[in-house]
Amino acid sequence: MRLLTRALCLCELRRQAASRRLVAGRLSVEPGERCWASIRAAGTRSDHLLSRPCTANRIMRPDDANLAGNVHGGTILKMIEEAGAIISTRHCNSQNGERCVAALARVERTDFLSPMCIGEVAHVSAEITYTSKHSVEVQVNVMSENILTGTKKLTNKATLWYVPLSLKNVDKVLEVPPVVYSRQEQEEEGRKRYEAQKLERMETKWRNGDIVQPVLNPEPNTVSYSQSSLIHLVGPSDCTLHGFVHGGVTMKLMDEVAGIVAARHCKTNIVTASVDAINFHDKIRRGCVITISGRMTFTSNKSMEIEVLVDADPVVDNTEKRYRAASAFFTYVSLNQEGSPLPVPQLVPETEDEKKRFEEGKGRYLQIKAKRQGRAEPQP
Ligand code: COA
Repeated sequence: MRLLTRALCLCELRRQAASRRLVAGRLSVEPGERCWASIRAAGTRSDHLLSRPCTANRIMRPDDANLAGNVHGGTILKMIEEAGAIISTRHCNSQNGERCVAALARVERTDFLSPMCIGEVAHVSAEITYTSKHSVEVQVNVMSENILTGTKKLTNKATLWYVPLSLKNVDKVLEVPPVVYSRQEQEEEGRKRYEAQKLERMETKWRNGDIVQPVLNPEPNTVSYSQSSLIHLVGPSDCTLHGFVHGGVTMKLMDEVAGIVAARHCKTNIVTASVDAINFHDKIRRGCVITISGRMTFTSNKSMEIEVLVDADPVVDNTEKRYRAASAFFTYVSLNQEGSPLPVPQLVPETEDEKKRFEEGKGRYLQIKAKRQGRAEPQP
């Protein structure tokens, strides 16, 4: 009887806490199938009531990494997206109302700060940092831990935007329960980030139309020599409850293609250094065939920029045409056996389009390098 009363009290407290507005929620996830979360209720110290058993780690295995033992950037992106999808879906369902799944709409530009290796433990933590009327901003941090020495390093920090889509009607965008900020500046800073990404989305031209075509007998170091494509049939394990592809699955495939292009170009061990902002404009349905194509656009002395295009082909539905679902630029670096960056063979652009893309890539490279070195011009 006492047990039953306790269980009922706990349920009631959980229900009350869930129906309150939530302070930026925190989530710790074991990458892969299982995850656990803890969401703090507004103005209370009731973490223990809402938290579930939490193991925020997973050992990186050989199938997470390349031949040299570096964990793929795509594996890390997929773990990041899983954490983001869980915390935002949980948050968007925290009040009574229509059930939904949070779909990944955008990932901000992200840098891979230090390599993660086989045998190290990945710690993934996610936090809701801002909500607009229909979108949720999630900040995810990934740490690598060497469990032999206890050394921990920050591998990646990523900002993702999710949009709640109704489970009954995938085309219906629902409202997001607002978070309560502990400081007013947090909300103001969040709003600025939200407005900046909205502006950037409107200004960025959607890279549509262009298709990567195969070329016979290409010369080494040309764009055609290393360009590569992967074709993937979207199955149930790739999809959300709605039957649409998880953003993390797409990003992992994108990184895989970019890695093949980079390895074909320089024939050494390569790692992902960064990914520029990705917008996911269109859903990809189960049963679609997706073609993920990569081509090198620019090389600096020690880095390679690869453009990746994702095209979805709804093969079983004759009424729908093939469409561009996402695109992004990945930057790769070639490493020697000691893990230090190596000079890369210089790309030889041949056609007018390739020369134009090379110059555009150079512009992006110089801008990001200047920002990194803290020498960027102040934004108007
Ligand atoms: N990045 C961040 N937020 C975005 C966004 C993007 N690329 N696109 C839309 N949004 C936000 C809007 O800001 C808006 O929120 P607000 O009202 O608080 O400002 C909210 O989404 C709804 O925008 P709306 O214009 O009504 O919807 P839409 O028709 O543009 O649809 C998506 C938005 C995200 C649902 C749609 O683009 C989509 O389905 N994308 C694919 C999602 C997916 O399948 N992800 C996995 C990819 S593999």
